[in-house]
Amino acid sequence: MKEFKINIDNNLKKSSKIISKKDYMNIVNNFKKYGAITFSNISSNINNVGDFIDLFSNSYSNDAKRRKVRFNNKKFRDVDVGFDEVILHSETSFSPTRPEIVWFYCNKPPKTNSGKTLICDGIDLWNNLSAETKIFFIGEPVCYSVKVPFEKKIQGIGKKKWYLDKPGVRKCYLNYKSQSIEFDYLKFAVQKSLYDDKLCFSNHLLVPVTGKQSEEQMMKKETVGKKKIPEKIMQEIKNKANLLKKAKIWKKYDLVMLDNIRFMHGREKINKKEKDRDIVTIQTSKTKFKNYFYN
Ligand SMILES: [Fe+2]
Repeated sequence: MKEFKINIDNNLKKSSKIISKKDYMNIVNNFKKYGAITFSNISSNINNVGDFIDLFSNSYSNDAKRRKVRFNNKKFRDVDVGFDEVILHSETSFSPTRPEIVWFYCNKPPKTNSGKTLICDGIDLWNNLSAETKIFFIGEPVCYSVKVPFEKKIQGIGKKKWYLDKPGVRKCYLNYKSQSIEFDYLKFAVQKSLYDDKLCFSNHLLVPVTGKQSEEQMMKKETVGKKKIPEKIMQEIKNKANLLKKAKIWKKYDLVMLDNIRFMHGREKINKKEKDRDIVTIQTSKTKFKNYFYN
């Protein structure tokens, strides 16, 4: 992971700018190149961290609303609660609301050597997959069945046909009984990186649909032809992702910026005695990079 040493609290003491234009461009260029950046000891002030993230974000993810708000600041949310392992995944990659950047900020590092955040570069993973597996995923999109609860209670009876303005969505319904929107989402497990011509294998394939490590909004996943993804292929993805993953050891006030289209992330199991670990997340839906003018 590329490391930056910028302390924005110090920057703000010296001037009104969080970072210089030169630093900003340097961060954007490194992010586009490496897809994962750690800012060591960026700030102890959560509002300054939020303002820093604003510089790179056009909008924030709606999906993050299901996570608990932290520090009275709607941008900051809890990471997955509990002590369980979190299997490698790209945030909300089973749905068209997938954020472009996921950020993790370490409010308090763990006392025990557990619960390291894991990341896996989808470009490396794709390059390491066998020709047989690549051929399978190049030709075969994945079909995720998704159920997202309504934000507010909506009155109605049964199911109503609905429409989402997102390519890949089909069989979309408002389900008044379960108070949720349901749809299938067709998505290739491999996609082009946002910033160059490389392919990245970053998705929700490793996450099970049932059990402790499942994702509550992902009800089903299969190929579009209703074929089960062959066990041999699943095993290969798991083995290679495990070999390529890297662990982040947290220090106080570290901030991680992760390209969510390129990278997958997860977490090691947390020691049950661990009481200190406090990592929060921010999800940037769309970046500001394409039309950002710093002044
Ligand atoms: Fe996640």
